[in-house]
Amino acid sequence: MTQDSIVRRMTDFASRADPYPVYRELRGTPVLHEEEGGPYVISSYWDIEALLHDPRISSDAANLAAAGDDALLQSEETGGLPPSFLRLDPPEHDRLRRIANSAFGPPHRPRRIDGMRGELREIVTGLIDGLGDARGIDLVDQFAYPFPVTVICRLLGVPREDEPRFRAWVDPLVASLDPGTRQGADEEFARTAREARMQLGMYLAGLAEERAKEPRDDLLSDLVNSRGPDGAMTMMEVLSTSVLLLIAGHETTVNLITNGMLTLLRHPDVLERLRHEPELAPRLVEELLRYEPPVQLVPQRTCITDIEVRGVTIPKGSRIWLVLAAGNRDPERFKDPERFDPDREDIQHLGFGSGIHICFGAPLARLETQIALTELARRLENPRLVQDPPPYRENAVLRGPRHLEITFDGIRP
Ligand code: HEM
Repeated sequence: MTQDSIVRRMTDFASRADPYPVYRELRGTPVLHEEEGGPYVISSYWDIEALLHDPRISSDAANLAAAGDDALLQSEETGGLPPSFLRLDPPEHDRLRRIANSAFGPPHRPRRIDGMRGELREIVTGLIDGLGDARGIDLVDQFAYPFPVTVICRLLGVPREDEPRFRAWVDPLVASLDPGTRQGADEEFARTAREARMQLGMYLAGLAEERAKEPRDDLLSDLVNSRGPDGAMTMMEVLSTSVLLLIAGHETTVNLITNGMLTLLRHPDVLERLRHEPELAPRLVEELLRYEPPVQLVPQRTCITDIEVRGVTIPKGSRIWLVLAAGNRDPERFKDPERFDPDREDIQHLGFGSGIHICFGAPLARLETQIALTELARRLENPRLVQDPPPYRENAVLRGPRHLEITFDGIRP
């Protein structure tokens, strides 16, 4: 890669706090292919949207490995389990997603999620109350990080007394997927992550066995006992789906909450409005998913035949990167795209992807973030940023602050 390579600058840590100037430059070449064997990088909204719906574009882990992908997520993520439906093409993808949908409730009818509203508020209240009489916090460590993992525990049906153990396994597992942490990782760190992955797998397998014998009202019971027209999931499929939900729904949600609070602290008028007008939350969260999406790009795609995009032929077997965050600020799609505007009406963003792999957990992620931001706005008195920009994680795909230090004058009841 040359010194002025756009791909290099885009993934370079120096761009993390503000990658948007590089994305603007990227959109100048909507199909960018900088070097032999490198990815084809797509940055315009309409091209990304079309390719996410194109059956010639594969998400299959085996195709990606054949294309020489060196990204995270391969065997390390799955820890010996079969690939999750995120890394499968139809028909297998559709079969597993349909079974999972019947347990979770499809996006337009997320019964299990709607029923969790009260529980989510209770978890958020517990986290804020737990701050005691503090006048400052690291929002990542003390709030955004513990929240989604507790939610997943409740959703899957992990008994409350096991939650601390469960969290203790998830922490090193999620940390080991962050390339920033992995680069500096020592043998001890890698061993802890491997051990945690194994313990978690064994724990989930034990719990799934119990739920097979004695079902309860939880997601794991529904997955284990699924008996619809698509048949049942095997025990290994149940485990890989559970681990997928855990991993796909963790750091993404942490980053949406943290990017969200950071954006609100940079727009104190909107923060103040949210405090008095909680009904703003749903639209605000959609605009955040457009303006500061936690998943900046989808790098795990290959094409299974030659395809043509804007007159450029992308040869069969090439890797394709779809830069969701660049599409989300494409002036051909959004009016005044660089402006954060929670009153925006036309807000069909790419923050959850699109097409058959569109985020499965979107209803949950939306609700979690709406409740988290509304409660933070309501309860923290006069919150202020300690450092702007805050320190960021290394990760160019899942982008978000590593820490977000906030001070405030008190906590309202
Ligand atoms: C897929 C974003 C939260 C579960 C995706 C995709 C995106 C995304 C962009 C598409 C990936 C692709 O096309 O390759 C997000 C964001 C979230 C979030 C920004 C939080 C703000 C969650 C949560 C869960 C979840 C809470 C589960 C509890 C999944 C699953 C898939 C997925 C299972 C794979 C769907 C499939 O392959 O059919 N997510 N996600 N996500 N997400 Fe999320």
